[in-house]
Amino acid sequence: MKFFADTADIADIKDLASTGLLDGVTTNPSLIAKAGGNFLEVVAEICGVVEGPVSAEVTALDAPTMIEEGRKLAKIAKNIAVKVPLTWDGLKACKQLSSEGTMVNVTLCFSANQALLAAKAGATFISPFIGRLDDINLDGLELIEEIRVIYDNYAFETEILAASIRTANHVKEVALIGADVATVPPAVLRTLANHPLTDKGLEQFLADWKKTGQKIL
Ligand code: G3P
Repeated sequence: MKFFADTADIADIKDLASTGLLDGVTTNPSLIAKAGGNFLEVVAEICGVVEGPVSAEVTALDAPTMIEEGRKLAKIAKNIAVKVPLTWDGLKACKQLSSEGTMVNVTLCFSANQALLAAKAGATFISPFIGRLDDINLDGLELIEEIRVIYDNYAFETEILAASIRTANHVKEVALIGADVATVPPAVLRTLANHPLTDKGLEQFLADWKKTGQKIL
């Protein structure tokens, strides 16, 4: 499963990219507002740090303007994935932009039928928001399961990009289901390597190693 960072914070992105484990980045208008700065410049900077797909979202509501915005965003760098909302206009824009060879991430997906439409529209990524479904007492993980079955039934190449991930457990669960990508807030990504028994075990190993009086270097 690929890991994308769900942030527009360049310091966080640089830090996570330095691990060599970051496969891409997703932004949205809320994350851009949170990070501050000029949208086009921030996205260009992120594209310079990360080789994989960097999602940048259109803000128009009608397909012709979405397409125009998408073409402008796609010119920023080769690794831009234009993000469009899962509306009929967004699907039209997805179909057009993907036919031009642009990667498209269809976002704000909350149902399996929406995901089916996005795949038919040639989406590179579908972004089901699991946390926001959980927030209203529905089952975000069940949606990922349903989309996995539908995409496998028809061999759709659209990648399932599990979004609105809030916890380390969400990451594990979407990996078990077989999501292609998880986009994860930096704070959650950083918790994935942590385990108290790792810390305890390391402390013991180092204490015992000290007793030997040896050094490797
Ligand atoms: O990638 C979409 C994500 O940013 C939404 O997350 O936590 O705002 O629902 P959240």
